[in-house]
Amino acid sequence: MQFKNSDNTWGLVSKSLHWIIALLIFTAIGLALVADDMPNSPEKIKLFVFHKSLGITVLALAILRLGWKWFTPQPNDAKGITGTNAKLAHLGHWGLYGLMFALPISGWVMNSAAGFPFRWMNWFTVPHLPVSKSLQGPAHSAHELLFLVLAVAVIGHVVMAVVHHVKHGSDVLTRMLPGGNHRTWALGIGVILALLYYVFVAGSSPISSPTEPSNSEAVKADALNDSEKTNGALSRSVEAGSHTDKQWRIVSSDSTLSFVGSYDGAEFKGEFRDFSAEMFFDEKTPKEGFFDVLIHTGSITTYSSDWDASLPDSEWFAVKQFPEATYRTTAFEQADEGFIAQGLLTIKGISQEVPLLFYWNTQPDGTVIFQGEAVVNRTEFNIGEGMWATDPTIGFDVKVSVSLLLEPFTS
Ligand code: HEM
Ligand code: HEM
Repeated sequence: MQFKNSDNTWGLVSKSLHWIIALLIFTAIGLALVADDMPNSPEKIKLFVFHKSLGITVLALAILRLGWKWFTPQPNDAKGITGTNAKLAHLGHWGLYGLMFALPISGWVMNSAAGFPFRWMNWFTVPHLPVSKSLQGPAHSAHELLFLVLAVAVIGHVVMAVVHHVKHGSDVLTRMLPGGNHRTWALGIGVILALLYYVFVAGSSPISSPTEPSNSEAVKADALNDSEKTNGALSRSVEAGSHTDKQWRIVSSDSTLSFVGSYDGAEFKGEFRDFSAEMFFDEKTPKEGFFDVLIHTGSITTYSSDWDASLPDSEWFAVKQFPEATYRTTAFEQADEGFIAQGLLTIKGISQEVPLLFYWNTQPDGTVIFQGEAVVNRTEFNIGEGMWATDPTIGFDVKVSVSLLLEPFTS
């Protein structure tokens, strides 16, 4: 079979692109319809990541296909398809081309507006399109409507092809079918089945083994090692009340408490917009420092409207029952660079020791730029209960970054 089309039949490239795209579209639809009916769960996220990955692949192949159409000769109309019929067939085909673009693009717009992180087959991050959040609803409606249009168009497309083949004896169907001998077919089907087995059953697919934020454990280990290197075991606790007099006030407009987690292998970011702290610290006497931080859990945002609606629920932050989280330091150590605070982080009523590595940069005007980093294992605080507790689709380790502008406290 030749690569390019000829005057009366389709070549290998056009046929392959036609059938691969058709297969990807049918699979993407099946995945979406199954996933759509599932309650929110790690499995649902995986199916949708797969759905979106196939959809983006369709978009890439559709671009390739249009490019190839321009490059290769177009076969004449098939036998028995003439006049208005031929015109309608061409119109229908251009409509199908349009849908091959419109469906993935509407999905991509919806995904970008909703702020869902998305890695193609858990391999590389697909950037968000620069669209406004308000487009999520309209893009969702468009995606659903375009799907219905596609369903009708494909049914019409198939019926016309089969009717012309069976009733009018046209070669329209046979010239698009793959051709080849039985052995080639058996081999092709075998390869597809093996791939499906690899992806779904053997669990070897990248989509079923999301990676954790790679450096999180390292940050934790480094923080502990540094402190041990410099000062031995983490020890002396500083009681509230016995701390240094040097108190600091957070300049809210220039301060953030943010975090980075993973969502089926893709990075997702968020922050707590409402937090405050009493902070006592003097670089010369770090052991006399004391931080008492109060975080309003309801102020969490991940820039994804769907997740922002779910996170206050009982299985995540249980905001109604536990509106506040706290971090209270118990000891300070000098590290090679910067300092390490030991402290008790309390979320959902559960307290765990969490080290915070931070840098303290005094500015010429007397203000301080504070940069801190800690790693929190969400499961230790029951953040993500039930199936989320053991499934790493939403990564266990979350890297917390504290960036503050501090000014001397004057009462
Ligand atoms: C060939 C391409 C595609 C087809 C045929 C397709 C089809 C569908 C279908 C049938 C649904 C279920 C609609 C419903 O009942 O709610 C769906 C949902 C969805 N699709 Fe696609 N899609 C495609 C590409 C994409 C792409 C590229 C993305 C994102 C990058 C995407 C994101 C989504 C999302 C997020 C939903 C869930 C919407 C919800 O919240 O209910 N789709 N898609
Ligand atoms: C989502 C699924 C499908 C899409 C998007 C699609 C799209 C298209 C498009 C755009 C063309 C025109 C090619 C061109 O002129 O460059 C075409 C041709 C064709 N399609 Fe499909 N198709 C799909 C599924 C199917 C199925 C399931 C059949 C099975 C009967 C089929 C049979 C054909 C045939 C026979 C032709 C050749 C028409 C000719 O030679 O003039 N298609 N398809």
